[in-house]
Amino acid sequence: MTKGIQVAIDGPASAGKSTVAKLVAKRFNYVYCDTGAMYRVVTLAALRHGLAMDATDQIIQLARQIKIGFKPGEPEQRVYLDGMEVTQDIRQGEIDSNVSTVAAIPAVRTEMTRQQREIAAAGGIVMDGRDIGTTVLPDAPVKIFMVATAHERARRRYVENQAKGIATVSLEDLQKEIELRDKKDSTRAVSPLTQAPDAIRLDTTKLSIDQVVDEISKIIKKTQEQL
Ligand code: DC
Repeated sequence: MTKGIQVAIDGPASAGKSTVAKLVAKRFNYVYCDTGAMYRVVTLAALRHGLAMDATDQIIQLARQIKIGFKPGEPEQRVYLDGMEVTQDIRQGEIDSNVSTVAAIPAVRTEMTRQQREIAAAGGIVMDGRDIGTTVLPDAPVKIFMVATAHERARRRYVENQAKGIATVSLEDLQKEIELRDKKDSTRAVSPLTQAPDAIRLDTTKLSIDQVVDEISKIIKKTQEQL
């Protein structure tokens, strides 16, 4: 049996990373870790404690105290805050609009990075986020940087919202929100969203989910053969 390796998948918001990462993990029987969910849990905890988003010291303290948990689930992985399920709560609009601020706090990133390295230490992991290939797992043998145009990402999110019955935001507004988050994530001082020099860039604008999963699977198999 081949040893499970570390697979890092990074890219901007709504590029389809989590959908693809989950399917790739399933195909190889690897663990899947959604690092964006971790920053979302910290944001939720801060809001639940009534903290303002500029209460940096208290947010840092909270990030170190809370217990973030994952459990496999269909169609989504389940996410826990101190043992209570928050899978849906972390996807609310209030979290969307505040999470970039929390994710820009250096000490929060240090703590999340520490926890993510622990989760990935045994290998056999697909981890998705913004800084996995550059900062969290710089030695990961497979690094993918997934991109798609802002218009296509907004379109996918719109279709997804419609399917969930939450089509309250227009396509134009979704695209604006995505562009704003791209800007915040790419221009922050600590671990901004950038492609690692050794990452493979995958433009998914014109690809189906299956095609992207196949492409990444090929890269993993090839890498395993070379190790
Ligand atoms: O992928 P997502 O939308 O769930 O990510 C939520 C936020 O967390 C987003 O603003 C980027 C940030 N994030 C990050 O800074 N580093 C990561 N490894 C993952 C997400």
